[in-house]
Amino acid sequence: MAEPRPVAGGGRGEPAGPGEAACTFPAPPGLEAALEGHRPTWAEVDLDAVAHNVAAIRRHIGPHSALMAVVKADAYGHGAVEVGRACLEAGAKWLAVATPEEGVELRRAGISAPILVMCLAHPSQAAAVVEHRLSQTVCNWELAQALDGAARARGVQAAVHLKIDTGLTRLGLVSPRDAVEFARGLQGLPGLRLEGTYTHMADADAEDKSFTRLQFERFMEVRSAMVQAGVDPGLLHAANTATAVDLPELSLDAVRVGLGIYGLVPGRAQRGRLDLRPVMAWKTRILFLREVPGGTPVSYGRTYVTPAPRVVATVPVGYADGINRLLSNRVSWLVRGKPAPLLGRVCMDQCMLDVTGIPGVAVGDEAVIMGRQGPSQLTADDIADLLGTITYEVLCWVGRRVVRVYLRKGCIVKSRGPLSHAACPGPL
Ligand SMILES: Cc1ncc(COP(=O)(O)O)c(C=O)c1O
Repeated sequence: MAEPRPVAGGGRGEPAGPGEAACTFPAPPGLEAALEGHRPTWAEVDLDAVAHNVAAIRRHIGPHSALMAVVKADAYGHGAVEVGRACLEAGAKWLAVATPEEGVELRRAGISAPILVMCLAHPSQAAAVVEHRLSQTVCNWELAQALDGAARARGVQAAVHLKIDTGLTRLGLVSPRDAVEFARGLQGLPGLRLEGTYTHMADADAEDKSFTRLQFERFMEVRSAMVQAGVDPGLLHAANTATAVDLPELSLDAVRVGLGIYGLVPGRAQRGRLDLRPVMAWKTRILFLREVPGGTPVSYGRTYVTPAPRVVATVPVGYADGINRLLSNRVSWLVRGKPAPLLGRVCMDQCMLDVTGIPGVAVGDEAVIMGRQGPSQLTADDIADLLGTITYEVLCWVGRRVVRVYLRKGCIVKSRGPLSHAACPGPL
């Protein structure tokens, strides 16, 4: 069972002790308006924390390396447009996405900064890549030729980044000779411009850095071979969050940082090395409350049966929203600053919590799924550790039905929900 942990320094409210009046925790100004008409299940995304993390990372890597903020997968569930803009305002020079579709979304939102597409596009996407001025990763001839054709048809040059595989065995050319030959081939395609050359680390979050250093050496060999052959490799980049945090000397011309932007780090080795603030909190509210006698089964499959009378709260969030079903009977969320164990199986749209003994518990009370409530917190790392997975996956689970609300100085400046994409339009 993952229990929420105390937060150093307490929180916005204090939990009620025995015999004391119960308290709830104040919602950020603007929340009620943002949730109006929506199911009260939301993720709070703190854009000041994004700016803080961007500044901390930029200080750490130094002035000679640019920050490419990785906002793929809807900014790891946070919202790509909103987080992308916040990163650029805070000094990131580039954004990186996985697919052309994600790049197009950013362009349609009016973002004009350079955007790298890190996965291979399908050749049928070449026209969209060119039209939206996306910088496309290449390492195969079919895509390079499709991009060249699409660019020439428009009378422009498309920017490409050459991917080098130094040890992940996922994408890229391996030997310096192949890299040089491919880069020379690109020179023969007038619709293309080699804007950058990069690699990706396989094991950078490990404490043992020898493989990361080996990958870096291999990358430098490719770079030297290209330069000797008279090919300009363009912008050189290799570091992800773990590399940027642990080995800032490998930052080259740019670092591609994702998780760090969101205030988290991939491995135990990186925890506490940089002053980062978690950006997202995930919350819901009690919609239904009842007292049940001992011997009452709760949820599908009757995997939990109350051992004695219990107060059971139903909250409107389930596995279709990203609550992993493996959390059934294994996690406690927070209600009025107290742990409220999740009873029985996670349903598709709802979960049941044990709120017995929580003074003053009432319909409408906030339940924290991830984040902080008063003196306690449950982090994405805690949830990942409990399930034996990685923090990245926990963030990406937060589903489309969950309303995103964006905060500046503790106030909601924008929201995005399944009903209205700008329920509360703000300066973003
Ligand atoms: C090619 C590439 N670069 C950079 C990143 C960012 O990694 P991180 O979130 O660990 O910073 C990723 C994420 O998976 C990636 O696939």
